[in-house]
Amino acid sequence: MEKKPAVPVHLGIIMDGNGRWAQKRSLPRTAGHLEGLKAVKRVIRGASEQGIGFVTFYAFSTENWKRSEQEVSYLMHLFVSKLHGELGYYNRHGIRILVRGNLSGLPAQVQQAVATTVQDTRNNATITAIIALNYGGRDEICRAVNQFIANHPGEAITETSLASNLDLPHLPPVDMIVRSANEQRLSNFLLWDSAYAELAFYEKLWPDWDAEDIQRICEDYGKRVRKFGGVQ
Ligand code: IPE
Ligand code: IPE
Ligand code: MG
Repeated sequence: MEKKPAVPVHLGIIMDGNGRWAQKRSLPRTAGHLEGLKAVKRVIRGASEQGIGFVTFYAFSTENWKRSEQEVSYLMHLFVSKLHGELGYYNRHGIRILVRGNLSGLPAQVQQAVATTVQDTRNNATITAIIALNYGGRDEICRAVNQFIANHPGEAITETSLASNLDLPHLPPVDMIVRSANEQRLSNFLLWDSAYAELAFYEKLWPDWDAEDIQRICEDYGKRVRKFGGVQ
């Protein structure tokens, strides 16, 4: 029997290019964000068809507060309405939602929507979608260190204890990080986890992504040789 190529257990996605997608159509940037959400749904289904267990979506960075007040408040409104509004969809397709990031820095309504969605999808078992919201890799590492110091004053931190103080420490490590819209940088995404993640960058703008892009990512992942510093 032919051996099936490995797929990433945990895939990280930097969703980029919503603004450019809208600009190309002479639409406001917000239209790109709305369309980007449709891509999220197609991609989650595509990932679960491929057998990927966990997908982390970078939805709002600690640096995205620099955008116009109008764009930021539109995005916050979208998080609230789609977390609530898509609950039936998540439950129908077995999608468990988790959230990673500095949640205390988000508006109360977003925090509330996050808490109820996590609670109401906790028993879904087909795939876990993690939304990185008000997320910054540097911020996450600082919060982890401060949490460790508060609980272990005077002790030196180790890699293991740092990792266990990050957000969602029980998730499997990210195997691959991909980014849309042809930008080739991490923009503060999963800095600790990316140490040994495979990286891949694709030209397509985020709102145009669908299940076929995930299939392509899995093919690309299957060709990578992961050595973790050792010898293959
Ligand atoms: C990604 O698309 C979405 C967020 C960062 C919230 P952008 O809004 O960054 O799109 P571009 O980069 O301006 O095209
Ligand atoms: C990264 O995209 C953040 C998210 C995808 C949420 P940006 O568009 O904010 O990143 P830069 O500014 O191009 O590095
Ligand atoms: Mg961008």
